[in-house]
Amino acid sequence: MDALEAIKGRRSIREFTDEPISKEILTEILDAARWAPSGGNRQGWRFVVVTDPQVKEMIRKVSPGIFALPAAFIVICMKKKAGARAWDEWLYAADCGIAAQNIMLAAFSLGIGTCVVASFAKEALREILEVPEGIEPSLIVTLGHYESLPEAPERKPLKEIAFLNRYGEEWGQ
Ligand SMILES: Cc1cc2nc3c(=O)[nH]c(=O)nc-3n(C[C@H](O)[C@H](O)[C@H](O)COP(=O)(O)O)c2cc1C
Repeated sequence: MDALEAIKGRRSIREFTDEPISKEILTEILDAARWAPSGGNRQGWRFVVVTDPQVKEMIRKVSPGIFALPAAFIVICMKKKAGARAWDEWLYAADCGIAAQNIMLAAFSLGIGTCVVASFAKEALREILEVPEGIEPSLIVTLGHYESLPEAPERKPLKEIAFLNRYGEEWGQ
């Protein structure tokens, strides 16, 4: 599968089969995350992979954005400097989002469905996973085998969201 196929074909999956994901596949997905770009190449992310059924259930209970129990979660955490400035906070968020996309595209190319989830109780998740101070759980990616891909939610046309040279000047397609 080439990159464009993965980018356009990936969908948020919210229904999974019970099949577990092999350690080899999870490792390959984590490796794709490791190769994500990060601001100043700081690589401040830390990835907690959760496959234990009891821990998964605890995570689901504190995450209104999770609709089905997947085979695994990857919780993307970020190492944060004490007293981080708004600029650093912005870079942290960008780094996590980009790593999440690498995870989702790699997973999709390996036949695994995913959904990125931002709706969860951060402090509760920190306690469940015993994440130390100075590191913050930032995003959850659910991962599992799936039976079918949902229909693609509509995307805005380029002419509405892309401009040429100046904001508001038509891209023209
Ligand atoms: C930052 C972010 C947070 C999201 N949070 C959730 C969430 O909490 N629960 C959920 O089911 N989907 C979540 N999504 C998935 C979006 O709803 C989904 O990407 C969007 O509807 C487009 O569908 P697609 O991913 O199939 O193209 C999130 C996506 C992003 C980028």
